[in-house]
Amino acid sequence: MQESSDFSKRLVIESKDEVGQSAEAFNRLMENLQGAFKDFNATTAKFSKGDIKCRIETDMMGDLSVVKDATNALMDNVAQNAAAAMENARTRQALDVCQANVMMADADLNIVYLNDSVKEMLSAAQSDIKKDLPSFDMNTLMGFNVDGFHKDPSHQRGMLKNLKETYKTDIKVGGRTFALVATPVFNEGVRLGTVVEWNDMTAELAANKEASLIAACRGELAQQTGVGCMSGQRDDGRCRLKHRLLKQLGERHVA
Ligand code: HEM
Repeated sequence: MQESSDFSKRLVIESKDEVGQSAEAFNRLMENLQGAFKDFNATTAKFSKGDIKCRIETDMMGDLSVVKDATNALMDNVAQNAAAAMENARTRQALDVCQANVMMADADLNIVYLNDSVKEMLSAAQSDIKKDLPSFDMNTLMGFNVDGFHKDPSHQRGMLKNLKETYKTDIKVGGRTFALVATPVFNEGVRLGTVVEWNDMTAELAANKEASLIAACRGELAQQTGVGCMSGQRDDGRCRLKHRLLKQLGERHVA
């Protein structure tokens, strides 16, 4: 037994005297040890294969009970971490594929997360951004410290250090305008970093500018040629010019 550590071995009981009783007690001890080890082995094997709810159930006493409780506590811990990791992975996947353009910097302003949308948006804008910020490179953006992009990094650092709620601003880089929404992220009062949502407003602002220009031109034209053309004026040169210009501006004919 001592050499093999084989707990299935038993003593042969040949008498009912003290020697026999001792042998019986020894066999019971071996029975308990064998049962305990069997449960330890089976449960930890099941657990490691993914059954994170299983625990050692066999009744145990003394030191075996201590080892049983410690092993079960260890499995509780691993199971809790696995559940938290699963939840994190779910949230991370949702953030990875959502349409909002999201990046995150840690408390020291190193970029630690970029979702698919922000990568796509910044890749499309990269050549413009580089005009103002030559060090901007999508290949090295992850892990980059954003101090490298700010004119006066101490300004952003000071602001973000004291930021308790969402801060919105527009920035202009390389001829583009981005709307930024920066929100601090805390865990149990400890600042983890800042999440920033980006929106490239360049096309929208250009379209608004064009619409305002068209409206202004239309107003100007109306002023110069009179509000509308009377039917008798249709052949009037000014009226024809107005109609032609309005048509070019995509406006409906004003009769
Ligand atoms: C998660 C990362 C980032 C954070 C937390 C952050 C934070 C900020 C904040 C709060 C402002 C506004 C300051 C104000 O309104 O006074 C700002 C401005 C600015 N940011 Fe960032 N930023 C980040 C990433 C970037 C990146 C990747 C770029 C590169 C394109 C960039 C370029 C700029 C520029 C050009 C300005 C305008 C003011 C200046 O040049 O300093 N930032 N940033």
